[in-house]
Amino acid sequence: MFILDHQNSIVHQFMTEIRDVQVQKDRLRFRRNFERLGEIMAYEISKDLGYRAIEIQTPLQKTTARVLNEKPVLISVMRAAIPFYQGFLNYFDQADSGFVGAYRKEEKEGDQEIEIEFLYQAAPNLEGREVILVDPMLATGKSFVKTVENLLRNGKPKMLHLVCLIAAPEGVEYLKQNLKLPYKLWVGALDEKLNEKFYIVPGLGDAGDLCFGDK
Ligand code: URA
Repeated sequence: MFILDHQNSIVHQFMTEIRDVQVQKDRLRFRRNFERLGEIMAYEISKDLGYRAIEIQTPLQKTTARVLNEKPVLISVMRAAIPFYQGFLNYFDQADSGFVGAYRKEEKEGDQEIEIEFLYQAAPNLEGREVILVDPMLATGKSFVKTVENLLRNGKPKMLHLVCLIAAPEGVEYLKQNLKLPYKLWVGALDEKLNEKFYIVPGLGDAGDLCFGDK
């Protein structure tokens, strides 16, 4: 598992801002920080991808230079992933994109588990592709697993990159136990635990509401 916040960088500033209730009041800043962190995470993942040499003509001469071997497929889990995904799209600007709608059902008092409702999927053929699945909060891990299970109907990726900004250890463990294909997990920060309502603590609250307002 790669953890972005373990490096000493400006990431500390952006991660702090997305968690801080005072800064969260500025919704534009919150979304922009998600986007910036998406760009940084995309850069980190780009180190794991393949490149090939091509011949190009500069204004001065012909030379060889490297380009991405293939366009990745970006999958965005609506709605909270939209600004984070935009950061990835800024870097992988020729990527194919897929969109998934999954949300957690409202839990009732005393519920021991949450249920994920999977509503929508529009994704390209994933067979043999580098697939980057973007969802900012890895809480129980159930929506990641359900999303991957549904996506596999579109083919088996060459590599599946699962990316989140904040992860709970419970979610990381759930992926380990339930995902039956190889994957790489990229995490902004690994937090302490889930609370009784399955929110990540310390976490940042409800990422979708902070991006777009209450449902
Ligand atoms: N989704 C969120 O937005 N926040 C959490 O803490 C967990 C899931």
